[in-house]
Amino acid sequence: MQHIIKAQQFTRKDIEKILNLSQKIQEGDRENFQEVLVGRIIATLFYEPSTRTRLSFETAALRLGASVISTENAREFSSASKGETLEDTIRVVGSYADAIVLRHFETGAAECAAQVSPVPIINAGDGAGQHPTQAMLDLYTIQREMGSIDGITIAFVGDLLYGRTVHSLTYLLTKFKVKKIYFIAPKEVEMRKDILVYLRKKRVNFEEREDALEILPKVDVVYQTRIQKERFGDRVELYEQVCGKYILDKSWMDKMKKRSVVLHPLPRVGEINPEVDRDSRAGYFRQVENGMYVRMALLSFVFGISDKGWKKRILKK
Ligand code: NCD
Repeated sequence: MQHIIKAQQFTRKDIEKILNLSQKIQEGDRENFQEVLVGRIIATLFYEPSTRTRLSFETAALRLGASVISTENAREFSSASKGETLEDTIRVVGSYADAIVLRHFETGAAECAAQVSPVPIINAGDGAGQHPTQAMLDLYTIQREMGSIDGITIAFVGDLLYGRTVHSLTYLLTKFKVKKIYFIAPKEVEMRKDILVYLRKKRVNFEEREDALEILPKVDVVYQTRIQKERFGDRVELYEQVCGKYILDKSWMDKMKKRSVVLHPLPRVGEINPEVDRDSRAGYFRQVENGMYVRMALLSFVFGISDKGWKKRILKK
């Protein structure tokens, strides 16, 4: 059974297969794909808020011909509010659906779910842990915008401690020959130390910095992130101290290369000034659209429909 739990699980070959398939879906005839998952049921089980991830997964499933069942506020509206464990809920939903897309507020939840689930689990964000499908669409966007992932220089900016998309994308980047990764964060939310150890082991060239402006002329990709307020609990003062430190505005764009791109997993809450939207290097809304195609490819990966198998199914008709 093929779960999607963390970015490290993918080989470079897997990643390339998924990126190529995503491109075929995006650029090819979408009608070719509309019956690939007919008869399957996908459950989206979300214990934390989401706009893009849930709706893009549901759209992806529907565009492949699958049906969808959904709990968008599982913390309040599912039996979790009565005290049911996640494991029991997974066993139950897994007896209805053919795959479960799970977002949960606890790090490690997707891994726990996978241990008891009778069907594939897709991690759509586990607390401050990982968000591998977002990272895959980020990677796809980098390839699309810059032409290649090998050789790029990227700067992650913002909340690198709690930003799960940053964790997953960093792991995925280790499968490529990136030139350099800069981690730019306030001291209080610096990049996770265990990930830095992993990067050293993989001989990835990286540097931690507090000042963004000096770095901007050197990078191909700026990956801006939101300070993850929900992870601060009652440390309101600390949150206020760190948020607002890095606001990407026109003055940043003026320092960036002509051929470069700004990405953000969204939602943004002030860390990218809307004046930047007009700049052609603002890639974050293209990134959103890419996400739907990448999630179509990921769903087919989970169900073991390779590119070849897919073609066969289409040609059979
Ligand atoms: C991210 C998430 O939920 O981790 N959003 C998303 O899925 N696109 C980033 C965030 O919430 O800041």
